Amino acid sequence: MDRIIEPELMDDPEQGKAYALADFSGPNTQFLNLFADKFTDFVGGGKVLDLGCGPADILIRFVDRYPDCECIGIDGAEAMLAPGRKEIVRKNFDHCIHLRCQCLPVAKEGNTFKAIISNSLLHHLHHPRDLWQTINECADPGTAIMIMDLFRPESTARARAIVDTYAADESPVLQQDFYNSLLAAFRVSEVREQLAEAGLSLQCEKVSDRHLLVWGRREG
Ligand SMILES: C[S@@+](CC[C@H](N)C(=O)[O-])C[C@H]1O[C@@H](n2cnc3c(N)ncnc32)[C@H](O)[C@@H]1O
Repeated sequence: MDRIIEPELMDDPEQGKAYALADFSGPNTQFLNLFADKFTDFVGGGKVLDLGCGPADILIRFVDRYPDCECIGIDGAEAMLAPGRKEIVRKNFDHCIHLRCQCLPVAKEGNTFKAIISNSLLHHLHHPRDLWQTINECADPGTAIMIMDLFRPESTARARAIVDTYAADESPVLQQDFYNSLLAAFRVSEVREQLAEAGLSLQCEKVSDRHLLVWGRREG
């Protein structure tokens, strides 16, 4: 099954609302657990960049787990950032989580990041090199890098079965987004080719029946 792209930005306010109301605690907790497993020596205390952060649930969980971090979340859709801005204020994290409405690729602007993370952004990109270029630009030697995304199933029937298994209770908007995302996602072999082309020596592996993980440290 070939990739079927979807719109890059989630800039429909209904989409933003549906996404913020949905329960992503499972995959988002898995994201944090995988980060802790892969980077056992990471203790926080530096700047963290989240690319395509959406409503910032992962950054909020990140700061809960690593309280000394200063986080920047970037997303091109204000509709997705808006619920995150409210939640950050509600949690009193506005001193340490800053959200910016900006599209990839982005430049470094003088920050030194201890970690660069991203969840569920890659499959949105029409040109995946926008992500790898941003990482090449923003990571310093030793920066911990972790990207999680869906991988494309072998058939539309398998994509439908995944939606039925994991999103049966979600709104129709969210179920359709999830299905479209599975069809737009990359395979592990495709991501490995992208990494090689970008000159990034990061690992890429499947970590669930629907997720792949790219991780490693930027070489010196
Ligand atoms: C599926 S959401 C994931 C949000 C968040 N990372 C999470 O795990 O909940 C993908 C996000 O990537 C953003 N996005 C897509 N293409 C982008 C681009 N070129 N630049 C910045 N953000 C982008 C979308 O607007 C959307 O908020």
